[in-house]
Amino acid sequence: MRWGLFFGLPILIVAALVAVVQMHDDHVVITKKPPQSIGQWYKPENKRQVWLHTMFKLRREMLAMETYARAEDPSNMKKWSDALDKDYRQIAVMVPEWTSRLDLDALAAAQKGVTEKRYKDVLTALDVLKGTCKSCHTDFRAITAAMYRAPDFSDMKVAGAKPLNEHMLALSRNVNHIKIAFGDGRDADALAAFVDLKTGMDELGETCVSCHNKLGKKAYPDPAITSAMVTLETSLKTGDIKSKGRSLGMVAVLACAQCHGTHRLSFDAKNLFGQKKDWRSLLRHGGG
Ligand code: HEC
Ligand code: HEC
Ligand code: HEC
Repeated sequence: MRWGLFFGLPILIVAALVAVVQMHDDHVVITKKPPQSIGQWYKPENKRQVWLHTMFKLRREMLAMETYARAEDPSNMKKWSDALDKDYRQIAVMVPEWTSRLDLDALAAAQKGVTEKRYKDVLTALDVLKGTCKSCHTDFRAITAAMYRAPDFSDMKVAGAKPLNEHMLALSRNVNHIKIAFGDGRDADALAAFVDLKTGMDELGETCVSCHNKLGKKAYPDPAITSAMVTLETSLKTGDIKSKGRSLGMVAVLACAQCHGTHRLSFDAKNLFGQKKDWRSLLRHGGG
């Protein structure tokens, strides 16, 4: 019966969608992605971080406007109001999909307040504008930063050829071998694993300089890590079990956890958001 099909199909589709979401209600996170057009305002597509710098300008302009409205200083207020007008509109020029997120009436009201020296009106309009900043940031700030600014380690090779994650697994094995060996009284094996760990860390360190070169000092292993490694070596040779454990823990925090806190976290987020999740892959993980 045609009518059955006509009504039945959409109901079926909706039911299927509900089922998919229900099935995953324990681990489905719904996020909005920023429009792709924002990519052209980030490195490497752009030479500069244009989007971010526009945002910093907006924050400065809002603050300046507020300061001069409170101080009732019309000439300075005019100067900053012109800059704010230009940069706020620039959001829609850069990402046309976000035009509706702007409140151009509030912007005009701020301008009018400036011209007419009605300081309270300026402050009120600024509050409305602030609301538009906040609402867009709630939806898009974190995900945009992760997608476009988190350093990308996916193609990184260590010691010429080894993919970064393989190198990571080797380092992790070294650390655990040290712990297992000294715990079981195999001190020579612990020291051998220590030497491998040290070599692996030096190799890893050569990959940091491509980004961390500006300070001119070695990023990894830095002096604190090097000193923790000296302490570990000494205690592996002469210390008791407790001091061995403690000095290994210190190395793990400084040499592994510190970088993970920055780079692994943000790289994971980048991968998570960058991944093209479709219904099929969601279904495949059904029940998960
Ligand atoms: C239509 C969306 C949108 C609007 C409107 C918007 N922003 Fe943003 N803003 C973003 C996104 C996306 C980011 C994240 C950029 C990044 O971290 O790379 C951001 C980041 C920022 C940052 C950097 C945040 C930080 O602490 O690192 C500042 C400052 C900022 N915005 C100021 C403003 C101000 C002030 C306004 C309002 C006058 C505003 N923005 C309006 C989208 C928007
Ligand atoms: C692709 C470029 C890139 C590479 C490669 C890189 N970093 Fe970073 N790193 C950054 C940037 C950019 C920051 C600033 C924070 C941010 O935006 O994530 C940073 C921040 C850090 C931080 C936190 C802030 C600080 O300076 O204490 C640590 C720790 C760190 N990096 C360690 C390392 C180590 C260790 C390596 C090499 C094994 C490395 N990074 C390789 C780009 C890179
Ligand atoms: C750049 C700074 C950095 C330093 C220093 C670092 N890691 Fe990592 N580690 C990462 C990143 C980034 C990843 C994610 C790699 C990926 O997913 O491809 C990672 C992933 C890992 C993983 C998971 C690998 C996998 O594929 O499952 C292990 C295990 C690991 N690191 C161990 C260590 C140990 C042990 C140390 C210290 C001896 C260490 N890491 C030091 C950045 C670092």
